[in-house]
Amino acid sequence: MSEKFYITTPIYYPSDKLHIGHAYCTTAADSIARFKRQTGYDVMFLTGTDEHGQKIEKIAMEKGMSPKEYVDGIVAQIKALWELMNITNDDFIRTTDKRHEQCVQKIFQKLYDQGDIYKSEYESWYCTPCEAFWTDTQLIDGKCPDCGRPVQRVKEESYFFRASKYADKLIQHIKDNPEFIQPESRKNEMLNNFLLPGLEDLCVSRSSFRWGIPVPFDKDHVMYVWIDALSNYISALGYLSDDDSMFRKYWPADLHLVGKEIVRFHTITWPTILMALGLPLPKRVYGHGWLTLQGGKMSKSRGNVVDPVVLVGRYGVDAIRYFLMREAPLGSDLMFSNELLLTRINADLANDLGNLLSRTVAMVDKYFGGEIPAAGEAEKDDRKLIDFASGLPGRFEALMNEWKVSEALGETWQYVGMLNKYIDVTMPWALAKDEGKKPRLASVMYHLAEGLRIISVLIESVMPETAVKMREQLGIDNCGPLSCWDSILEYGQLRAGINVMKGAPIFPRIEVDKELAELDKLMAAAQEPPKEEKKQEGPQQITIDDFKKVQLKTAKVIHCENLEGSDKLLKLTVKCGGERRTIVSGIRESFCAQDMVGKTVVIVANLKPAKLRGTLSEGMILAVGDNPDIALVTADSEDGLTVG
Ligand code: ME8
Ligand code: MG
Repeated sequence: MSEKFYITTPIYYPSDKLHIGHAYCTTAADSIARFKRQTGYDVMFLTGTDEHGQKIEKIAMEKGMSPKEYVDGIVAQIKALWELMNITNDDFIRTTDKRHEQCVQKIFQKLYDQGDIYKSEYESWYCTPCEAFWTDTQLIDGKCPDCGRPVQRVKEESYFFRASKYADKLIQHIKDNPEFIQPESRKNEMLNNFLLPGLEDLCVSRSSFRWGIPVPFDKDHVMYVWIDALSNYISALGYLSDDDSMFRKYWPADLHLVGKEIVRFHTITWPTILMALGLPLPKRVYGHGWLTLQGGKMSKSRGNVVDPVVLVGRYGVDAIRYFLMREAPLGSDLMFSNELLLTRINADLANDLGNLLSRTVAMVDKYFGGEIPAAGEAEKDDRKLIDFASGLPGRFEALMNEWKVSEALGETWQYVGMLNKYIDVTMPWALAKDEGKKPRLASVMYHLAEGLRIISVLIESVMPETAVKMREQLGIDNCGPLSCWDSILEYGQLRAGINVMKGAPIFPRIEVDKELAELDKLMAAAQEPPKEEKKQEGPQQITIDDFKKVQLKTAKVIHCENLEGSDKLLKLTVKCGGERRTIVSGIRESFCAQDMVGKTVVIVANLKPAKLRGTLSEGMILAVGDNPDIALVTADSEDGLTVG
């Protein structure tokens, strides 16, 4: 019986149009899932949608729809996108599925019965006309952020999950299992920023909106966010249902692949819930980087096409999948641009791989009537290829098993490069002129064809359609043994006598400048006509004495988090000389909280403190540019220095 492998993506919010950044996470998970299947695992690959909450309720209401009607439409689009991207998820869980709701209600009840969920009070602000509750940080100038009217302090009853009870056990688990949180850097961040300072209990219900799973024992409450969302990973397997065979087979997950901003919920919140349920923890949580646009997280398009449907339509699904997986290591951010995409497609796919295939097939056609010849005794140039290719599947697999997809492709393209060079060095066209060199020419053709076959098998998990097309041209049966992973473990399995079949170029060359202009036009058409910018007078001049009033200091960021209730603001704690300060800064569209920690920034130290969204900000961080392209002014020295 084969070993199981359970892999998940996060469940996506159906509130926004999905952009290429969402496709990134799903493509990565799909490539890993396909690779595991290819190498003999019994894979369960889950994705889905996270459909509850006040935000969805509100959008639906504004559209005059029921929340369910609204999410149904978007979920259909999301499923269609995954189909377009050739995503091979084995199941798709919606948090509005009956099976999920029932499972989560049982979980909630169980935790309540055993005393891990308790009722308490959640203090907040209430706007009577709007019938809405707000937290401190959501208020604007102390007033309702929706209508601007005064609010009253009220206590809202809420249920809380006793996460704190499991903190010590979790800390120990993280220390004992170095593989649990990956990459490594995220592990330290979780320990130092969240666990070691003390874990708070989690508010898990609300009575201020209705679009959620009802709390089974209290009809006034619906569940709030994380118990609902995270439980998808086990509700989809039938946990606590009549048939939990899938759960018993696949849990614990082998890999939760998630964006770096939700690593915290997957490595702290989720494990404490699982501990309370007495269930084993996932083996690994991997926090991948973001696709960004010039320094900021992908939120608006900014002259770059980020609609995956458009990109796949123009360049084909495999080109997009390849770009996403190849361009940056999984743990790092990848700054997306049309130009980078087109350059990568041209260089690696049209030139290196595509040409190698068409040249090889054309030469076998021309010199051997389309029949792949047998190789003679290996010469020095052949040896080099054989040696490299023999170790390649092993290296590829080892890298993939550490989720180093980009690096695994890098190894493969090294081989592509070697094969191209092999053609230059052996000069088949010269060999063909001399009848006596025919055996040598045959060897060269064989090694090229065998090399391409090996490559087709290696790239299959990332570029499934290309793998098939390559083998079609090589005359290899796509369902036969020569298409299997095991057939590349030993070099030279390709049999002579197979007939190649010339086909269209697998990646037509793109005229980058022309295509970039086309994409620009496309974007311009999609965007609203730009509003006329107000003509600005030149900047007002100030004297040196004016400037001297500004006290600039270097400060080190020691903690940073998103300011609740705002999607633009970060709340930073900085160390400046001996003192600590809190600074609220509107740079969140350009920087994620985790990336700020450790930076030495320059602050205006004598700015009059001001309350922003309920938090007192003591100073301002210097930065230039506009969101999402802000550049920070940073210093390479210690904190507490006075600048100027
Ligand atoms: O967070 N680059 O859903 P979500 C890379 N429902 N990945 C990106 C990205 C980008 N520009 N934008 C989004 C949620 N993602 C919750 C999860 S799980 C129990 C609940 C990734 O739709 C993001 O990092 O906001 C996350 O992993 C996934 O898309 C879903 O994000
Ligand atoms: Mg998110």
